[in-house]
Amino acid sequence: MSQRIVVTGASSGIGAATVRRFTEIGWDTVAVARRADRLQQLADETGCLPVTCDITDEAQVAELATTVRETGGATGLVNNAGGAIGLDLVEEASNDEWRQMFEVNVIGLRSVTAAMLPILREGALRVECASILNLTSTAGLDAYKRGGGYNAAKFAAHAVTGALRLELAGEPIRVMELAPGLVQTEEFALNRMRGNADAAAGLKLYEDVQPLTATDVAHVLVGAFEQPPHVNQDLIVLRPVAQSSSFDVHKGPLKTR
Ligand SMILES: NC(=O)c1ccc[n+]([C@@H]2O[C@H](COP(=O)([O-])OP(=O)(O)OC[C@H]3O[C@@H](n4cnc5c(N)ncnc54)[C@H](OP(=O)(O)O)[C@@H]3O)[C@@H](O)[C@H]2O)c1
Repeated sequence: MSQRIVVTGASSGIGAATVRRFTEIGWDTVAVARRADRLQQLADETGCLPVTCDITDEAQVAELATTVRETGGATGLVNNAGGAIGLDLVEEASNDEWRQMFEVNVIGLRSVTAAMLPILREGALRVECASILNLTSTAGLDAYKRGGGYNAAKFAAHAVTGALRLELAGEPIRVMELAPGLVQTEEFALNRMRGNADAAAGLKLYEDVQPLTATDVAHVLVGAFEQPPHVNQDLIVLRPVAQSSSFDVHKGPLKTR
């Protein structure tokens, strides 16, 4: 029973940690992102197959599917590539930035899923049940002020996940969703602040709180893939203990009362 999982957004953060975790448990991975140098470093470290692909480019997604098929197929897919741009009021936001967020978090996820489904059907014959997991966010479950564009994109990714699960009913393909809260990764906040490191630091997101790490998320994510083939964890919401909701993060040490 050989498992082979395609992970998008594998050049940093949660995606890279996910590739590392799958490797630790002995599963093969195909690591997908735009930055070839970072993927190559991960390949040197883990033995994953690095594939450069911009998931917002349909021709590149078709090439990705061809590469996956020709190198051993796939039994699972993690749609992790994504992110946020800006913290703007709906009234003041940039349509171009909203389009970019939709392109990667929603349309790219759909393109990769559609291209991979025939390959996953073949993979399901090898391992009883193929798996798809979409990395959304608690931002896709609760709207927050200045989150409109990212909220809209992740709410859409959440909706696509639900529709896909209904559409694949009766097939041996589970469709899962992992919605993390506060996760400290090296690039998420930086990208959100359009590459401005001072502005990202100024958010003080991770100050006086122990956020989730990419490794924490990867362990839970890979655990969902390790469940018996009849078990589908539809929606996993994962937050640090200090974050009791999308709006409440306890700063300072945790103490019993
Ligand atoms: N960090 C958090 O607090 C948090 C919380 C909840 C949910 N999430 C979600 O979790 C996922 C991973 O987040 P992260 O914190 O690990 O972010 P990250 O470190 O910024 O990683 C994002 C990954 O997506 C890839 N990517 C971006 N655009 C792409 C494109 N067009 N084609 C292919 N790959 C693309 C990036 O690689 P390249 O630039 O090399 O292409 C990178 O590997 C995202 O979907 C994010 O929205 C994050």
